[in-house]
Amino acid sequence: MEKERRGLVEIKVWDWQLRLLHWAMALLVITLLLLVVGYEWLEDMGVEEEGLEAVHKIHAYTGHILAVVLMLRVVWGFVGNRYARWSDIIGLRWSDIWGHIRWILGGLKGAPPTSIGHNPLASLFYIPLFVVLTTQVISGVILAGEEFKMFPGNLVVENRIVTHTGEAMAHDGNEEEEEEGMEEFLEAIHEFGFYFIIFYLVAHLTGLVLHEIGERRGLFSSMINGRKYYQEDELEGD
Ligand code: HEM
Ligand code: HEM
Repeated sequence: MEKERRGLVEIKVWDWQLRLLHWAMALLVITLLLLVVGYEWLEDMGVEEEGLEAVHKIHAYTGHILAVVLMLRVVWGFVGNRYARWSDIIGLRWSDIWGHIRWILGGLKGAPPTSIGHNPLASLFYIPLFVVLTTQVISGVILAGEEFKMFPGNLVVENRIVTHTGEAMAHDGNEEEEEEGMEEFLEAIHEFGFYFIIFYLVAHLTGLVLHEIGERRGLFSSMINGRKYYQEDELEGD
């Protein structure tokens, strides 16, 4: 192995469950983004309502699969190996983050602070990413219940209508307005998530390329084979 010849120590960082969940999540998120872009294109091309609805329906089904994958990732953050845990993402040290920023601004000279699991600067993006994915799932599931009567969002929507009619006894205009307001609110959250995820993806890939150029420790392949490579002196005291 070329890296071992260069005197690097191999460390098993990402367990197979984390890698599987990462690639499932990446594939699903990219599919969801492409379906949204595809929807816009078809709309501009004048495709009929039925065809457009089918695209949103596929988006919603794909979104429900993402909901399951995200839940599994959340659980894995409590039971996986030490590098899969939430503590590895949340327990970031500001001094390490600054070290990484200085290293990038300084033109990738020398070495940034050693991190074995999640890169601390990247974690600053992973935390809001997981929050946004959760809000995408919650808003998406309710929208799918409202638009397509899909489970389990339909239960939330029906429950709201039953409670409302129970209280108001009669169906009045206010109720409809409130419902539209709710839908607009959910769509606004969902749209914000769309832009955040595009921003995240650009930052994620740029960060990975910069680190691979500057450090050459097999960062890209680490998400495939689970291994990263370090100099022995980097690991002292860890
Ligand atoms: C929308 C698509 C993507 C999402 C949502 C995503 C998300 C994530 C997350 C959350 C992590 C932290 C690991 C975890 O806790 O699960 C991560 C790490 C990583 N991702 Fe992605 N990723 C995406 C696309 C990609 C792509 C396309 C590549 C490679 C070409 C990639 C390569 C990696 C690598 C190498 C790491 C480890 C980085 C580190 O050491 O901190 N990801 N990604
Ligand atoms: C995580 C990545 C996701 C992105 C980037 C994304 C993005 C979008 C965007 C931009 C729209 C158009 C909003 C509008 O019509 O105003 C949309 C619509 C929709 N999304 Fe998502 N979404 C994601 C996840 C999900 C999930 C997880 C679900 C369901 C579980 C979902 C269900 C829906 C539904 C049902 C609509 C149609 C709403 C309508 O017809 O007005 N989405 N999505």
